Amino acid sequence: MTTDSTHTLTPEERAADLDVDQLKQLVGLVEYDESKDPFPVTAMDAVVFVVGNATQAAHFYQSAMGMELVAYSGPETGNRDHKSFVLRSGSARFVLKGGVSPDSPLVDHHREHGDGVVDLALEVPDVDACVSHARAQGATILDEPYEVSDEYGTVRMAAIATYGVTRHTLVDRSRYSGPYLPGYAERASSYRKREGSPKRLFQAVDHCVGNVELGKMDYWVDWYRKVMGFVNMAEFVGDDIATEYSALMSKVVANGNHRVKFPLNEPAIAKKKSQIDEYLEFYGSPGCQHIALATNDILRTVDAMRAEGVDFLDTPDAYYDDPELRSRIGQVRAPIEELKKRGVLVDRDEDGYLLQIFTKPIGDRPTVFFELIERHGSLGFGKGNFKALFESIEREQERRGNL
Ligand SMILES: [Fe+2]
Repeated sequence: MTTDSTHTLTPEERAADLDVDQLKQLVGLVEYDESKDPFPVTAMDAVVFVVGNATQAAHFYQSAMGMELVAYSGPETGNRDHKSFVLRSGSARFVLKGGVSPDSPLVDHHREHGDGVVDLALEVPDVDACVSHARAQGATILDEPYEVSDEYGTVRMAAIATYGVTRHTLVDRSRYSGPYLPGYAERASSYRKREGSPKRLFQAVDHCVGNVELGKMDYWVDWYRKVMGFVNMAEFVGDDIATEYSALMSKVVANGNHRVKFPLNEPAIAKKKSQIDEYLEFYGSPGCQHIALATNDILRTVDAMRAEGVDFLDTPDAYYDDPELRSRIGQVRAPIEELKKRGVLVDRDEDGYLLQIFTKPIGDRPTVFFELIERHGSLGFGKGNFKALFESIEREQERRGNL
């Protein structure tokens, strides 16, 4: 396929040696007419976490998640408030922040919410146009457009509020060549990968899920449509994602090119407490529930992460032995036995299939976790797996005493 890839790819994607065809497969990238979009979004710029100990978290993201440290800000660079580590894997960028000064607002944030995502930063070509559209649609502007500069150039940014205490920082880095943002110093990993470990464990962020309160899902779906010009992709209600005990509803919005996909969940009334209720209680507000990471070799990625001690939700053997599942999923690239050994789930729809697996919560609170996803044509989110997945989550909730 000979799309004008210099135009279609972001600098991060080019730097990660990704091409348009790979991205179509990895994250379901589609072409669209940006000129008609009132709020054009190019890609995710970064997923920004506040954590209790960024120094140690940075080690985890390198050792267990295979990411590479690229930039740093902290007391040594003149930032006395907090430490901030920037890590990359393919086109995905994570930023980990932890308070240094006891007076840092990040310390208060962490006291209230625990480890979590504070910012789903978006790369946009025109910060000012986005902000004026968002304002006209009633969005809360947290930071008016501003510029920061250093010897690498200038970045133009702004920020708008989304659900809970989460924000979307809008970033135009087209005039900037530094490692992240002005104020950050380039920094390489001192961590050495084990011999034979894959170059990277994931290539891109596929989707970021938001958990909102009961009755608020449609509000936020409309908000993304009105404020950010996102389109509806899929929805799951009622029986789709109910087990005997707990239930939730979910709708998915995406930007024009589908690089950025935000499923939005709300709890549904059921016999017992749903995973969304548990999240809302322990995070203390609506927030980001999971980040799905696109990989082109989920088996190898799971093996590498397991070897570093990452815990995944387990899938009962019955899932793989179910003849209905076997006939529904048909032929996939790996033998079912290999998937079963690792607990990797399969789902098929009219466009193809996907393989996916979920980690247990990565922090102390039962809140944020990761998904690994390997797409083969399917643009879905694993609807056929929701029941098996939620039953697995319920077993974990039960162990925590939160069901
Ligand atoms: Fe997901």
